[in-house]
Amino acid sequence: MSSDALTLTRPDDWHLHVRDGAAMAAVVPHTARQFGRAIIMPNLRPPVTTAAQALDYRARIQATVPAGVDFQPLMVLYLTDNTPPEEVARARAAGVVAFKLYPAGATTNSDAGVTDIRKCYATLEAMQREGLLLLVHGEVTDPAVDVFDREAVYIDQVLIPLRRDFPGLKIVFEHITTKEAAEYVAAADALTGATITAHHLLYNRNAIFTGGLRPHYYCLPVLKRELHREALVKAATSGSPKFFLGTDSAPHPAHLKEHAAACAGCYTALHAMELYAQAFDRAGALDRLEGFASFYGADFYGLPRNAGTITLKREAWTLPESLAFGDAQLKPLGAGETLDWRFVG
Ligand code: DOR
Ligand code: ZN
Repeated sequence: MSSDALTLTRPDDWHLHVRDGAAMAAVVPHTARQFGRAIIMPNLRPPVTTAAQALDYRARIQATVPAGVDFQPLMVLYLTDNTPPEEVARARAAGVVAFKLYPAGATTNSDAGVTDIRKCYATLEAMQREGLLLLVHGEVTDPAVDVFDREAVYIDQVLIPLRRDFPGLKIVFEHITTKEAAEYVAAADALTGATITAHHLLYNRNAIFTGGLRPHYYCLPVLKRELHREALVKAATSGSPKFFLGTDSAPHPAHLKEHAAACAGCYTALHAMELYAQAFDRAGALDRLEGFASFYGADFYGLPRNAGTITLKREAWTLPESLAFGDAQLKPLGAGETLDWRFVG
């Protein structure tokens, strides 16, 4: 492999928001261009809580994939206090692969989320039995807990007891942002994995405050201090199969990001593999990118690895300032800045 071109097995995105309607039509082609599959987050309004809704949503997503592009959305149901255990078998029959646990109030459209995990135990039993994964947004929502500590506190308060009570359940700790989370996952059993975003590998929390308040760098869980970013880079580039790619690309209209109560979420689907290549390159670990991006997630989910390849070239290019997003505008993370790597197909 030359250091100026990188050819990888086609990667997958194990954590993605595509929204719905015209907004979805604007973003799905970006993901479909780079990735073979993506785990589709169910936090629509109203959320995707039933197998029937997931089938409808999948069909709407598929209708936005450009002709001739081989891309498969993998569907996830939104877990609520009231998800009946019977929904799990229906989900499996529909090809749904996982449930997403949002603690109520933790993030965008999480009002219908779980207020107390114990309310979900019968449904979690069914998931463990049927082989569906549990994807966790791991932050406590107690306003008394500092926003930068919410992930670490969640490990002790929720994840450790959950892991103990469901030893056969596959759990993905989504978009981890701290050294504590990276260490917890590295030391956990083989049924515990984690996704890591490109932005948490590239930026620390200073990015939110550089030269003024920078809302495009605001996401949840929020960027943390440098020592945490370093721990995430170490985990992602370690070659451990427990850590895999999940962009958490989360598009919001620019006017709702540049707002007094800015929405959380970074749009990275346009340039996802370029961002990950940059992070791995800076760590001197480009040889570890393929495992992280293309192998370990599929292996963890028990799905085949993709056929086919993609190629990235070391070639400077400048990100557009904004993209069309239905009737609104969408600003990619780092809009107007120059990237070192370019996806060429
Ligand atoms: O920053 C985020 N944006 N974090 C989430 O958990 C949700 C996401 C969204 O849907 O906008
Ligand atoms: Zn997300």
